[in-house]
Amino acid sequence: MPTAIIPVADFDMVVFGATGDLTLRKLLPALYHRFADRQFSTECRVIAAARSDLTDESYRKRAEGALREHVAAADLAEQILQTFLSLVVYARVDGSKEDGWEQLDGLFDGAGDRVRVFYLATSPDLYGAVCRNLQQQGLVTENSRVVLEKPIGHDLASARQIIEDVGRVFSENQTYRIDHFLGKETVQNLLALRFANVIFERLWNADVIDHVQITVGETVGVESRGDYYDHSGALRDMVQNHLLQLMCLLAMEPPISLAADALRDEKLKVLRALRPMALHEVGHLTVRGQYVAGAVGGKTVDGYLRDLGEGRSSETETFVALKAEVRTWRWANVPFYLRTGKRLPQKVSEVVIQFRDIPISVFPREAAEIQPNRLVIRLQPEEGMRLGMMTKDPGPGGLRLRPAELDISFEKAFSLRYPDAYERLLMDTVRGNATLFMRRDEVEAAWMWIEPILHAWRETAERPRPYAAGSWGPTASIALIERDGRTWHEELG
Ligand code: BG6
Repeated sequence: MPTAIIPVADFDMVVFGATGDLTLRKLLPALYHRFADRQFSTECRVIAAARSDLTDESYRKRAEGALREHVAAADLAEQILQTFLSLVVYARVDGSKEDGWEQLDGLFDGAGDRVRVFYLATSPDLYGAVCRNLQQQGLVTENSRVVLEKPIGHDLASARQIIEDVGRVFSENQTYRIDHFLGKETVQNLLALRFANVIFERLWNADVIDHVQITVGETVGVESRGDYYDHSGALRDMVQNHLLQLMCLLAMEPPISLAADALRDEKLKVLRALRPMALHEVGHLTVRGQYVAGAVGGKTVDGYLRDLGEGRSSETETFVALKAEVRTWRWANVPFYLRTGKRLPQKVSEVVIQFRDIPISVFPREAAEIQPNRLVIRLQPEEGMRLGMMTKDPGPGGLRLRPAELDISFEKAFSLRYPDAYERLLMDTVRGNATLFMRRDEVEAAWMWIEPILHAWRETAERPRPYAAGSWGPTASIALIERDGRTWHEELG
């Protein structure tokens, strides 16, 4: 059955940072796809705002180049592409300065009160200033929303500052804080898995679950983002937001509905239930690493310091593994092991729910070693789910056992193009649906839990442990989980 596309109201979307990587690589392709699927009409406008001296024409050329590069040729229809580009206009403005707004202002003369989305694809340091200027220019209407990219700050204090500054202009209901992992189809599928099926939810607790693993591996290094990344590191860039959000969806109680606040209330409880790490525990419960030269996918690659630039030194981690604990009745004594890193052997996001051993075996020992059930949820690539079970080895000769898998490949089952996370999220901002965006208190609670780790790392003289590009991080990451008598999901190493 074809998916029903529900058109959204006409809108103007102003994207600050329009010449940046995020806009060209993600936002424009996402908007193109939604337009090609007729989710919005030719009455809509995408107003690309940046400091460069460009015209509508020269920006459209750049946008066209980006679309040809980042949209699959099979999805690029020439006429639709040209019509889409005709909806894109360029406004030269430095969002952080008080003057020079005439061009952008002019675009709104007589625009009425239709939906306005201000997308800040800029450095977070500018969020406050851009919002203040938008207000001073009288551009913020009742029907306006602001969209903020992560990272919201680099610690709790700076996050609060940004939240306050933006909050002076836009109410919480008008503020959409993006964590693009929440827009991924398979991440939303975690909600379907847990709350549209009866069989898992009854088992989703410490009675039968031994532990949970979340792995988000990337094969890329820091690429051209060294300046940003070196001030951030894997803990701030990935764990504070994406991995903790995944963990919230896995660990939360059933929400009373999918209304934005109902869902976010439940996620917030998980974040607040995370046991804070004491300073002296951080060395034991976390591992940080930094890649050195190695080989990924058969290609020799440089180490992190070289990627940053000749002669650079850095204490920034490109890998983190940690053990977290959610202190609720549901999850008492069920550790959550999280790991993420750059230059790992595979680009993969995966959740492993490891069930406990059966209480007693009635099978003779020689029948086979009984492996506890394991549910592996593949978020990307090769999206799907596998449930490991013990079965009877078919054939005569006694009751021997062997492991087998119930295997669903979403890719094969639904043979559709998986929309990019931004497609869903951008349309949600127009619709005014904040369910998949982070509320202020979630961002703060996540920082509160992360801060002691950052603090402890700063205090110690230890550098991040080196790991060869193409490996699964420092060996200490293996020790972190093996110390508890467990192992990382073996297919990933
Ligand atoms: C971003 C991080 O939020 O997520 C990047 O800043 C990372 O460092 C990216 O590469 C991963 O997202 P995806 O969608 O490619 O899994």
